[in-house]
Amino acid sequence: MNDRLAGIRQEILSGIEQHAESRAAAFELRKQFLDSKTGKIGRMMKEMKNIAPEERAVFGKSINELKEWAQQKFSELDERLKAKELERRYESEKIDVTMPAQCVETGNLHPVTQIRNQLMDIFVGMGFEVAQTREIEKDYYNFEALNIPKDHPARDMQDTFYLSPEFLLATQTSAAQIHTMEKKKPPIKIVAAPGKVFRSDDDATHSPMFHQMEGLVVDERITLCDLKGMLELFAKKIFGEETTTRLRPSYFPFTEPSVEVDVSCFSCGGKGCRLCKGTGWIELLGAGIVNRKVLENCGIDPDRYSGLAFGIGLDRAAMLKYGVNNVKLLFESDLRVLRQINDN
Ligand code: PHE
Repeated sequence: MNDRLAGIRQEILSGIEQHAESRAAAFELRKQFLDSKTGKIGRMMKEMKNIAPEERAVFGKSINELKEWAQQKFSELDERLKAKELERRYESEKIDVTMPAQCVETGNLHPVTQIRNQLMDIFVGMGFEVAQTREIEKDYYNFEALNIPKDHPARDMQDTFYLSPEFLLATQTSAAQIHTMEKKKPPIKIVAAPGKVFRSDDDATHSPMFHQMEGLVVDERITLCDLKGMLELFAKKIFGEETTTRLRPSYFPFTEPSVEVDVSCFSCGGKGCRLCKGTGWIELLGAGIVNRKVLENCGIDPDRYSGLAFGIGLDRAAMLKYGVNNVKLLFESDLRVLRQINDN
């Protein structure tokens, strides 16, 4: 009898030693001994009834001891395996918090787009609507309707890429004035973009493709004062509160009078530096009072209405604002340059 119990004890010990690698295997092993119906210890309990009554108490006590001992062994084993499993899991889920983070590259808008968005925001804030410009124009819209007839010397100011005698690559965004006034009657207050224009011109400050933004206001009693006041406000917003503007007489066939608008140099504050070539002023845009002939060409009565128009070079504004000294840098897609200009 005692031999049998000792045998089972031995079986359990060697079972635990040999195949209890996982909690599932340990559970199976436990069942072989401790299952109340099929387990070896359980089955011995059932043999009680075949045992002589005077031996029963001792027998029962021994089996109970064995049972308790086995339960103890298996629960120790389970604890051990549980700890081991946890350790394995920690090991497999371990992360090295000192590893350098993976760098996620985010792009930014092109400097010219950034400037364009900023200008649009300012003008929209002043109540302007946004119109579209075209890259391909008819000679009529780009020149004739703007009071630049064929053989007019002003055509020489803008070396034009002709696609055919009738069609050309827009040399200026001013055609947007005509398109707008043909469709809409005063009051008119628009800025036109995206403003891609083309001229056969190529050096450090000129690119054959560049960008302008056109502005047009037509209503009763619009004067040069409106133009000056509005552009001054605009200049302060884009280049800083201390910026002032001045108007210089100029010539454009579609405006009369015509002006060139300068802003006080925002680099030296007007004292004179390399950026403003010692003058204290920086040329920013062309503007003027819309020529009566242009209003007439669009069927607007010049005795009742007057207008102001302006055209801003976006690439020039971006170069000034971001300190880019060669316009080519804006169009070479060099990430070293583009990454530095993030002004959103
Ligand atoms: N279109 C002119 C240019 O390209 C700029 C301009 C626009 C001037 C509107 C006056 C009015 O130089």
